[in-house]
Amino acid sequence: MEGEVFYPSTEVVSQAVLKDWEKTAAYALGDLSGFWAKEAGELEWFQPCEQVLDDSNKPFFKWFVGGKVNITHNAVDRHLKTYRKNKLALIWESEDGKCDRSFSYYALNREVCRMANIIKAMGIVRGDRVTIYMGRVPEIVFAMLACAKIGAIHSVVFGGFSVDALQGRIADSQSKLIITCDGSLQNGKLVELKRIVDDSLRHCPTVENVVVVKRSGHEVPMEAMRDHWYHDLCALPIANGKCATEVMDAEDPLFILYTSGSTGTPKAIMHTHGGYMVGTYSTLKYVFDITDEDRFWCTADPGWITGHSYIVYGPLLNGATVFIFEGGPSYPYPNRWWQLIERYGISIFYTAPTAIRGLMRFGDAWPNKHDLSSLRLLGSVGEPINPEAWKWFYHVIGRGKCPIMDTWWQTETGAFMITPTPVVPLKPGSGTRPFFGQVAEIVDEAGNPVEVGAEGFLVLTRPWPAMMRTLYGDDERYVKSYWSKYPGKYMTGDSARCDKDGYYWIIGRVDDVIKVSGHRLGTAEVESALITHPAVAESAAIGLPHEVKGQAIFCYVQLNPGFDPHEDLSEELRQHVSQHLGPIARPEEIRFIDKLPKTRSGKIMRRVLKARAQGLPEGDLSTLEE
Ligand code: PRX
Repeated sequence: MEGEVFYPSTEVVSQAVLKDWEKTAAYALGDLSGFWAKEAGELEWFQPCEQVLDDSNKPFFKWFVGGKVNITHNAVDRHLKTYRKNKLALIWESEDGKCDRSFSYYALNREVCRMANIIKAMGIVRGDRVTIYMGRVPEIVFAMLACAKIGAIHSVVFGGFSVDALQGRIADSQSKLIITCDGSLQNGKLVELKRIVDDSLRHCPTVENVVVVKRSGHEVPMEAMRDHWYHDLCALPIANGKCATEVMDAEDPLFILYTSGSTGTPKAIMHTHGGYMVGTYSTLKYVFDITDEDRFWCTADPGWITGHSYIVYGPLLNGATVFIFEGGPSYPYPNRWWQLIERYGISIFYTAPTAIRGLMRFGDAWPNKHDLSSLRLLGSVGEPINPEAWKWFYHVIGRGKCPIMDTWWQTETGAFMITPTPVVPLKPGSGTRPFFGQVAEIVDEAGNPVEVGAEGFLVLTRPWPAMMRTLYGDDERYVKSYWSKYPGKYMTGDSARCDKDGYYWIIGRVDDVIKVSGHRLGTAEVESALITHPAVAESAAIGLPHEVKGQAIFCYVQLNPGFDPHEDLSEELRQHVSQHLGPIARPEEIRFIDKLPKTRSGKIMRRVLKARAQGLPEGDLSTLEE
């Protein structure tokens, strides 16, 4: 094999659930339906499906057609009939370390039933949308599982988003109920979630009730009739007792999750009970090799797809023990995560390159203070991992014995798409090869395959169970965004190359999506936040390389007459974006410009700004207006 390769040790191979990668890959490629039918068969169905894959109406694929199922039945209920009833499902620790809570599968079921009873009492029925906007507390997991249990569609909005983002997502989903917290804690600072909900609800007429989980304990206004404390509701008789798990069609919606696209408003990615369940179950089983002895920690937030698939659903479907930490990597000190790995005996640790790069800067002494010997597998997700960070993660955190699963996937794909399993030889910076049953291609603008090793657009050519089914309420945009450029092929929006060994190397987004610390943001969202400031006439947001964050947001702003470019205004605009869209979207820098480069038809040429900022060639400028 070309380049630097890390081969799995005999110990890793002997322990792996799946030893023969080549054989399974060949089988899945030859019999896609057979492979997925077998995976689905490991879970419980109220009624088995009649057809594994229906591709008669592409790109509206259907999986496990006719099957009756419920993801919460498989993530929680079914374990109660086994020894897992007494096994730990969830362990949680607060940011300040002063509080920890743990739940067996039995206790998890009790909590989910309680939350589900309350959601039902709020008038929510099958098919209704519920917006969940919370910090990283166990109740966010209960709320998601409870919605799924009763057939309601959850729409989780990341707690790092602010008023504009939340309001847009509530309005678009037409949620009737919001589940939130009074506040959450981030680096010791209070994030006033309930206040942000109150501000957002001024323009969201569909919302009838708000359930508030007490976390921060600070004073919050409660609107009579609309707002209810969760602990008060829990004390009512309606909250008690078992709650039946709804029998759902495999293709019934499970959740929508908004994600940023190249243009316009965020897209409501829709996933289903059947296919998403099988996809997350199976990918986690093979890739992270979950066994009953493992303690799995995915550091993502439940508000992003990584959290949905690999904090909540995937691990619980596999009957694993999940650890959730409320805080971030370096508060109060840069050993916080290493301390938790040691304290809880974490065996599988899945995080993001930005966090690794950030922690690497503090040096080896911090992790070296801790016993990390419980670790056996590591994982990375969200953006390309640079080989330097990969090697630090491998040697200093994994102590040279833990393979790193660099998993490439997207909100849209629901589950891992290009990823190794523990037995696959690794090359730092490559996600290796497509998951079982998948075929990836690198194509040029016209859709023709490029030469081996050349850069091109990454497309996927086979359907998979956890794929999104549509953009909720907008089939046309679904087809246009993903399936129209290269008919019959799924356009990922990423550029990549594939080497002689068939290993894929992701380069980055080719559209106007920015990955800031692994968080997906759209230039359009940042620009819409800026335009609401009276000084801004027009703006263009771009992502530029950043040592720790991967990419950072730079905004070019054209001011309205009467406003002068100065440092105070720049700070004010950054603050404005943070307040409206969320602190994660706060621009790194505002640059004032007299005139934005545009095409003759008036489109902003962000690519030109990006090239200029980096001192790179500006490319074809023939369409640039005078
Ligand atoms: O550009 C790719 C990058 O993240 C994008 C998807 O973002 P999102 O929907 O927020 O999901 C992130 C977590 C699954 C992709 O189009 N990306 C994700 N994982 C990797 C990656 N880039 C390189 N390597 C990865 N492992």
